[in-house]
Amino acid sequence: MWRSSGWRRRMSSSSSSSPSLLHLALCCVTTLFALHFCAAAKPPKVGFGYRLVSIEESTNGGGLIGYLQVKQSTSAYGPDIPHLRLFVKHETQDRLRVHITDAEEQRWEVPYDLLPRDQPPPPGAKASSSPFTSSEYAGGDLIFSFTSDPFTFAVRRKSNGQTLFDSSYGTMVFKDQYLEISTHLPKTAALYGLGENTQPGGIRLRPNDPYTLYTTDISAINLNTDLYGSHPVYMDLRNEGGEATAHAVLLLNSNGMDVFYTGSSLTYKVIGGLLDFYFFAGPSPLAVVDQYTTLIGRPAPMPYWALGFHQCRWGYQNLSVVEGVVEGYRNAQIPLDVIWNDDDHMDAAKDFTLDPVNYPRPKLLEFLDRIHSRGMKYIVLIDPGIAVNSSYGVFQRGMAKDVFIKYQGKPYLAQVWPGPVYFPDYLNPDGVSWWIDEIARFHELVPVDGLWIDMNEASNFCTGKCELPTNHSCPIPGSTTPWVCCLDCKNLTDTRWDDPPYKINASGSRAPLGFKTIATSATHYNGILEYNAHSLYGFSQAIATHKALQGLQGKRPFILSRSTFVGSGALAAHWTGDNKGTWDDLRYSISTMLNFGLFGMPMVGSDICGFYPAPTEELCNRWIELGAFYPFSRDHANFASPRQELYQWESVAESARNALGLRYKLLPYLYTLNYEAHATGAPMARPVFFSFPNFTSSYGLSTQFLLGASVMVSPVLKKAATSVKAMFPPGTWYSLFDMTKAVVSQDDRSVTLDAPLNAVNAHVYQNTILPLQRGGTNSKEARTTPFTLVVAFPFGATQGDAKGCVYVDDDERPEMKLAEGEASYIEFYATVSGSTVKVWSAVEMGAFSLEKGLLIEKVCVLGLQGNGQGLVVEVDGEPWADAAGAHFTESHAVMHQAKLEGGSKRTSMIVEVGGLSLPLGKTFSMTWKMGINE
Ligand code: NOJ
Repeated sequence: MWRSSGWRRRMSSSSSSSPSLLHLALCCVTTLFALHFCAAAKPPKVGFGYRLVSIEESTNGGGLIGYLQVKQSTSAYGPDIPHLRLFVKHETQDRLRVHITDAEEQRWEVPYDLLPRDQPPPPGAKASSSPFTSSEYAGGDLIFSFTSDPFTFAVRRKSNGQTLFDSSYGTMVFKDQYLEISTHLPKTAALYGLGENTQPGGIRLRPNDPYTLYTTDISAINLNTDLYGSHPVYMDLRNEGGEATAHAVLLLNSNGMDVFYTGSSLTYKVIGGLLDFYFFAGPSPLAVVDQYTTLIGRPAPMPYWALGFHQCRWGYQNLSVVEGVVEGYRNAQIPLDVIWNDDDHMDAAKDFTLDPVNYPRPKLLEFLDRIHSRGMKYIVLIDPGIAVNSSYGVFQRGMAKDVFIKYQGKPYLAQVWPGPVYFPDYLNPDGVSWWIDEIARFHELVPVDGLWIDMNEASNFCTGKCELPTNHSCPIPGSTTPWVCCLDCKNLTDTRWDDPPYKINASGSRAPLGFKTIATSATHYNGILEYNAHSLYGFSQAIATHKALQGLQGKRPFILSRSTFVGSGALAAHWTGDNKGTWDDLRYSISTMLNFGLFGMPMVGSDICGFYPAPTEELCNRWIELGAFYPFSRDHANFASPRQELYQWESVAESARNALGLRYKLLPYLYTLNYEAHATGAPMARPVFFSFPNFTSSYGLSTQFLLGASVMVSPVLKKAATSVKAMFPPGTWYSLFDMTKAVVSQDDRSVTLDAPLNAVNAHVYQNTILPLQRGGTNSKEARTTPFTLVVAFPFGATQGDAKGCVYVDDDERPEMKLAEGEASYIEFYATVSGSTVKVWSAVEMGAFSLEKGLLIEKVCVLGLQGNGQGLVVEVDGEPWADAAGAHFTESHAVMHQAKLEGGSKRTSMIVEVGGLSLPLGKTFSMTWKMGINE
């Protein structure tokens, strides 16, 4: 939500003065405060480690099983667990798992039904095995090695001997509520990930910044703080000897944790669960996300329309306002695919209801008929908190099925927008079936096209154990501050779950774990403690919501979730939460977006123009110019901000038509990226190093990014700027707004690009074939228009090749896959050799696009040398257009000159072959010879 946490305010008011002597003194005397001010200090000694007492290898390739004995127990943070069981397995060629748990008792771990994966043998299980006598266990691309006393382990890459993880850096500690393990890191390691976190320093993790993972409703403006999601995974990119390699490490654990990164080491301090490490060998960043999403689930396929532009606002008081917004976009000729309601459509903020006065059902249904017939969509918000109200059907049915999270046997009482609420337990099968049923009922009431699940960290306006007040009503009638707790609550400190011995840096201020969320001593189904399952709440809600939508519509579900965990990307999209309309927030949005790509959640974006307070007109111009290239592109604002739909200012409308105009032309490319993401985990928006891993200058680059492999977006992120300094990996980059302009980069020196207020820079890289369509004001219209293939060769090339592809389907089916008749996949190739240019396609599956009548109308080739003399284009062996004369018409080859940015005199030629009607889905080949300049 939009408030910043009260706890944080209290904490920061006491610590925001300059780092005083008091702070420095605190550092030295207490470890509790060490994180913020002495992050680089060596971790305190809270354990003496373990000794390996036996190790065996299963004879059927089932992995290694070892037993560990604590060397000496300490009492700090509780007693050590005396015996541990180690399980090591090369699960695939490129994935190694190291699982360490209590040898005697089952411990909490991320439930296998939520995140399906192989289960290690249960403790004590007997398999046929023989003693393992080596200290190394090789398999696939990785080697596991260990020492016995103390027990430490390392993971090496087989191909180059690089050590990826080495726990000998620290002492392994394993207590019920405190686990610690460290790894050494070489200086060459560039790290990314460990979120959700707003990182002012950009995508590359900064040594000594705090990384705390615990799902929390505090707004994204809080820097280096545990935000809405928990993703305990990092990618490590190293360039040693000119050869970049990447790998990733996941510690699959849902308990709260602090991760300390010093630059030469990384230490996890986790307050429960077990050590379940997965190592992904890479060696390229794309291979890493492929391997990671093979384990955690491939990104959910998005419907085509979801790649269009979305408009939302908290505070659309009635349906007429919403109708006005849709018309506002139409009149301004700005593309719009999806209109959203926050909680304004609800009756008294109750999920699955309609406000009978402001959103009367018959009128809403008429409106939906109208927008649906245009191909537009409608999405609404739901919160997990169910109003405690005996005349509310959703509540009644939930009570009857006993689906709510409990505290001492009774539903746990909290407060959110409707006032007093209970939280559904999505770990309870009955909770899931009740939720599915409620969504089905709601869909009968309003045929929404997707659901937005908000506040699911879970957010609670109160803390601790609360009762309905006896001396006043709650919510307080007419309250203008419904987010202020009006229940009677007492803080809970009496159990070790509410007040664990080690305090993670929750809310960025060591807030109690239960602060403004569900008390951590509350229980889920089967007695599961909220303490353990807390960070899974949004994930479990997304699973239930996905089941509901999938079963219901028989269509591809669209879900937007604020809280996320490892695996959420397979179900939902994400936005980066409550940001501010500031230039800093504009910049931060790039890093968070790129991080979610690494987390296997590529459909992500930030509230365009900022959630609150009022953005300036200039900022909103720049924001839509960037936001038009977020995978998830949505303008959203708080009720207290003035209206900020893109048509509210003429200048913003112009920027929007320009930037979204390009987005809508790029939709076939974006949809193909959506397919690639689903098929291989490849992020849609990527750090530049994904395509150029050896270009080390890009390792921290967080002001530009790639869409797919080869479209670079270089937005303006500074007030009053009319140009942008951009860095381009070596090669030619053509402007997508004016293809006669190119940047030829040789190194990492930045290029200054013009960026007047209404313009954004987007470039396509050489060797690429980009499928574009004509665009339109919604995706339904845009997707039927003819295609243009943009073929980019190196500037002035006489030798070169390029390739690209396009995936199309009808996006109604839940699954996104290549099946004949249901989808088409076509690859495009081009070569230039001397003066001969060839462009052709290879059709992997074509029936679908043929049936839809999709056509290629133009092929536009960039970067050629020569002239138009005697230029004869042949298509499928027949002469197509003779441009030797002066007949440069639509149906003929047209030539332009391309110029280099930066005043260089070199030129190259563009050949546009227009007036074509090549069926997409049927192979074609095209060739011509360039005239040679005398
Ligand atoms: C919090 C969300 O982050 C925000 O986007 C939404 O507008 C409010 N909740 C109100 O529902």
